[in-house]
Amino acid sequence: MSQTITIDPVTRLEGHGKITLKTNDQGEVSEAYFTVTQVRGFEKFSQGRPFYEMPGLMARICGICPVSHLLASAKACEAIMSVTIPPTAAKLRSALNMAQTIQSHALSFFYLSSPDLLLGMDADPADRNIFGVVKVDPELGRAGVALRRFGQHIIELLGKKRIHPGWVVPGGVTEPLDSAKRDEILAMIPEAYANIRLALNWYKRIADRFRDEADHFANFPGAFLGMVGEDNGLEFTDGKLRLIDATGKILVDKLEAAQFDDHFGEAVEPYSYMKFPYYKPLGYPDGSYRVGPLARLNIATHAGTPLADIEVKEFKQLANGPVLGSFYFHHARLIDILYGIEFIERIFSDPTILDTHVRATAGVNRLEGSGVAEAPRGTLMHHYKVDENGQMLWANLVIATGQNNNAMNRGVLQTAQRYVKGDKLADGMLNRVEAVIRTFDPCLSCSTHAFGQMPLEIKLVAPDGSTLDTIRRG
Ligand code: MG
Ligand code: NI
Repeated sequence: MSQTITIDPVTRLEGHGKITLKTNDQGEVSEAYFTVTQVRGFEKFSQGRPFYEMPGLMARICGICPVSHLLASAKACEAIMSVTIPPTAAKLRSALNMAQTIQSHALSFFYLSSPDLLLGMDADPADRNIFGVVKVDPELGRAGVALRRFGQHIIELLGKKRIHPGWVVPGGVTEPLDSAKRDEILAMIPEAYANIRLALNWYKRIADRFRDEADHFANFPGAFLGMVGEDNGLEFTDGKLRLIDATGKILVDKLEAAQFDDHFGEAVEPYSYMKFPYYKPLGYPDGSYRVGPLARLNIATHAGTPLADIEVKEFKQLANGPVLGSFYFHHARLIDILYGIEFIERIFSDPTILDTHVRATAGVNRLEGSGVAEAPRGTLMHHYKVDENGQMLWANLVIATGQNNNAMNRGVLQTAQRYVKGDKLADGMLNRVEAVIRTFDPCLSCSTHAFGQMPLEIKLVAPDGSTLDTIRRG
């Protein structure tokens, strides 16, 4: 008899979501839906605001990745102003972006996912948290906490506030850097290196224990989108977009934010408020693609910093062509952190970073503008239209988690088919279904633009609508 299993809440994710599994008459999982249940409506309530208020407003979409929204928004505003920001402002902003990437990745890897990796997918849920990690492997736990603090502290030093820094504005940044802050940032670098080295070495030692998860966690051929620099290396802030297929063939290259809509559309599904972006020539869902740490390493030829270059080379040995298993998002996330530390060291070692010319000014010179940046979890696009006075008429945001939406759903189905047995909701199975979503580090507060928290539950439902089994968490 066919039935429906709903996993609700998805624990240890940023924000909230719900998973529904439908089984067929043979009792096998045949369909999976990752559902996001609230809408925040930032695109709507920006209407009528002056465009230059957008970065500050958009940063409030998310407490996890405010810097990404600040940057994509500021860049969309700069397209409207038709200005190029001063080089030192660009460097400062790209360093801020890497600081956020480091803190967000540290949260994802150490706080949310390392409990599964260290204690096992079947460990007691009461121990599967950062405290459990600190208890079992204090060095690893402390490294994670310290890396998160490293990123947060740089954001604080640059942006004044840890959350929603208002320092980034259309045209650049509000204030130049002083040498005391520069020195404080550089002094933190050696410890950050030691911590990420420890984490990478640890991850490489334990990764083989998760062969089965690596094979089933959203492991399928598909396209990847991300930003690359002019030399095709890693780039998070000021590069152009590249889309590759599962064989590594470049489908689109050197794409500017303004051209995004020419190549990508957004599909809607009745079960989710999150949109499903896709590459138009392949249609939906065939044109679905992944973004984020795994995508970035697959599309870039190298990192562009010495230590991360070595790691990227080794990472690329994992597969002949792009690495297709989403379990490797974890590995890629750690490489992003290493790259970020090297990048920050390089930026703040450059004497021009103290240059005081950090802001360009202009009014409305175009009625439309788009900006793109790599958020920790992938490509983020802001697209605005304004009137002659610079009042916002329309906004569209294409967020990273939405672009991974289809892949997350495929991953949930694949994982459930592997680990859900019969009509009982065993915890190890639930945790794996959740874990596959955690590999993508979805930012649900971003993707649904949702306010507040929501209680959720797990349901197993028969075709006649009767509930066979329920688990509640959170
Ligand atoms: Mg949108
Ligand atoms: Ni977010």
